[in-house]
Formats: sequence, C-alpha cells, structure tokens
Amino acid sequence: MPVSVKTRTGLKEHQTENWIGTLLESGVSAITLHARTQKMMSLFPADWEQIKIAASAVKSLKPEVKLIGNGDILSYRQGMELGEACGANGVMVGRGIFTNPWFFAEEDVERGVAEKLRMLTNHIALFHNTWGNTRNFSILKRFFKIYIHGFQGAVALRAKLMQTQHAEEALPEIEAFKLSLPNAD
Ligand SMILES: Cc1cc2nc3c(=O)[nH]c(=O)nc-3n(C[C@H](O)[C@H](O)[C@H](O)COP(=O)(O)O)c2cc1C
Repeated sequence: MPVSVKTRTGLKEHQTENWIGTLLESGVSAITLHARTQKMMSLFPADWEQIKIAASAVKSLKPEVKLIGNGDILSYRQGMELGEACGANGVMVGRGIFTNPWFFAEEDVERGVAEKLRMLTNHIALFHNTWGNTRNFSILKRFFKIYIHGFQGAVALRAKLMQTQHAEEALPEIEAFKLSLPNAD
C-alpha cells in the first residue's frame, strides 16, 4: 500500500537533506514537506529553499517519489509558480483557503460584495441543510470573516452576524444588507 508522509523540515534547525534521505530509504511513496522547522511554528515565513533542497534529494535518490511543497501559499498561481520553481511535483494549501474561498479558481480576481454574500449564503445554507440542529451554529462563525471583508459596511454586518444563533437568523441579515446596497456589484 503506498504510504505518504507529511512533515516539517526539522525540529530546531532545518535538517531537510538528511531527513528527506531517511524518509526515502524507508520506502515512502510521497512526501509533503511543510517548509518550516517545529521551532518556527507559524511565526516565521515558510522557507521554500528547503523545498528545493528536498526536490533535488528526491530527484537524485528516488525520482519516482512525489514531493509536495507546503507553506504560505495564498493563491493558485503563486502555488503553481513556487511549486514549479522549486522542483516540487505538487503543492498543498492550508490556511490560504481561509483568506480566499476562491483559491482554486485559476483567475486571481477580487470578488465583489454580491458574490461574497452569495457564497456566504450558500455556505450557511449548506451547513444548515447538512446538519440541521445537530451542530452548533457558532462553529460556522470563524468563517464569516472570509466572506465579510473588504467592502463598506463589512465590519457592522460581521458584528451583527456574530450575534446570530441560527441560520434562520443569519440569512435574513444578509438579505437585508443586500437590499441596502446601492447597486449590487
Ligand atoms: C487549524 C490547523 C490545523 C492543522 N492541523 C494539522 C494536522 O492535523 N496535521 C498536519 O500535518 N498539519 C496540520 N496543520 C498544518 C497545515 O497542514 C500546514 O502544514 C500549515 O498550516 C502550513 O501550510 P499553510 O501555510 O498553507 O497553512 C494544521 C494547520 C492549521 C492552521
């Protein structure tokens, strides 16, 4: 059975070359490398030079193994460019999706308020239709900022939505906000 490993580059210092060598010897099929040490936590930028080092180790030792780079990718295009520039076979995205729900759209365009609200409405409706009252509505609130930012009235709308307890309360707030827009998008 193919086994993949997801790992950082080291504990206190980058140990990329040795560590990747050890993983390759163990017979893994794919490695996802988060380009930070454990000590760096997420406080420092990911160091994509380490992905380059790993890619060249893979290429020379076990070229059939897939290397997937990870860390600080904020857009599809940036991911493609970094992955290619560093010799990775692919990239993995984590937090980027929390700032840009359209991450996987190839075109990097800023979305207008109507589209953001439509997507949030879909998200809430999907949650409601999937979970009904079996999950606490509050777990959705961490996602509101993803959609409700970068337009006039966003802060106030977010504050209102944070006080809602149920999809049936939140959706009318969004509809009311839409109606207050001079001309949607
Ligand atoms: C909320 C959260 C939970 C995470 N959970 C895991 C996990 O369970 N296993 C894991 O290998 N990495 C986990 N990570 C790390 C991410 O997979 C990723 O390696 C890291 O966030 C760097 O990528 P990014 O800059 O694209 O977010 C988590 C990250 C976040 C923000």
